[in-house]
Amino acid sequence: MEKKIAVILGDGIGPEVTHQAIRVLESVAIHYRHKFYFEYGLMGADAIDKTGFPLPDATIELCLNSDAILLGTIGHPKYDTDPSLTVRPEQGLLKLRKSLQLFANIRPVSTSAALHHLSPLKTKVLEGVDLLIYRELTGGIYFGNKFLSDDGNQASDDCIYSAAEIERIAHLAFKSAQQRKKKLTLVDKANVLETSRLWRRVVQGMASQYPDVKVDFLFADSAAMQLIIYPKHFDVILTDNLFGDILSDEASVITGSLGLLPSASIGNGGALFKPIHGSFPQAAGKDIANPVGSILSAAMMLDHFGLTTEAAKVRASVQWTLENGFVTKDIDPVNFYFTSTIGELISDLVQDKIPTELHPENIQLRKSTII
Ligand code: IPM
Ligand code: MG
Repeated sequence: MEKKIAVILGDGIGPEVTHQAIRVLESVAIHYRHKFYFEYGLMGADAIDKTGFPLPDATIELCLNSDAILLGTIGHPKYDTDPSLTVRPEQGLLKLRKSLQLFANIRPVSTSAALHHLSPLKTKVLEGVDLLIYRELTGGIYFGNKFLSDDGNQASDDCIYSAAEIERIAHLAFKSAQQRKKKLTLVDKANVLETSRLWRRVVQGMASQYPDVKVDFLFADSAAMQLIIYPKHFDVILTDNLFGDILSDEASVITGSLGLLPSASIGNGGALFKPIHGSFPQAAGKDIANPVGSILSAAMMLDHFGLTTEAAKVRASVQWTLENGFVTKDIDPVNFYFTSTIGELISDLVQDKIPTELHPENIQLRKSTII
């Protein structure tokens, strides 16, 4: 298979984690005889520094002409403290989502026994957690009219949804639930918001098309609580842009490290893959960031291409590193491995270059030769 992949390295730790994902994709290409062509574009603070714009037209053009986009992370603290700034790195990401109509953001959250000790939750709450969040990504309060009064003392952000916008993502979420545990939870605030009542009506109306899927409804505040006290309650969560943003960050800490989680944003043709963590500028350039979120995002890209065997191999390789203690500093602050070492190890595992039955002591030797 031949695919053209647009790469946006982005800000902070984006470049170093994305390079490891590319390395793993190159390994997949060698091992399974595919051809992946990588082309680079700018976005975020990096793009503002170099071009004055958070999303130059050339990047949109590149993304429109690629089979998928691999994105690092976006954001820099120098833009966070001054609310009067009109140009911000995040505008690039929002514009890209809108330009490519990436209306569904998919964030899987599952726990690994090897990392239970890192989670703020008790092990008995964690066992068997495996959920998928479908967050609407191109509508709602993120994209409604924004208003600031002339005296600067009043502001508003409109939240608008159409039935068609809700339906298109709900279909994806229902279909996904059919492939999983057949349960769909719509998270909204229908006791207060008109848009939420529209979400409920639309989803209730669609339920008969998916009779094998059990649908339930939760208010967002209650869902936030359920995610902590009984995360096993969930299979597929469907929700709007803002609730999805908040709940997916909350769900991510259940796993023990934000650095592990991937995401996919899909829509009418285009598809973007990125780790869910932020740009973590304090760690930039130190080779200590966790590349696993980015590598698992590459695995989601492989699934999107229909390369499910390859995707499973990448996931199994990642899992092996976690189970055998090959982890970055966020997971083990004392005995940790560098970003690039983990990337190299996973790439080698994908190509079967490392016999997985090796004794850990022998692999320790390898560590000393690499570092
Ligand atoms: C995310 C991020 C973005 C969002 C920011 C960077 C604009 O938090 O992808 O979840 O709010 O959508
Ligand atoms: Mg977010």
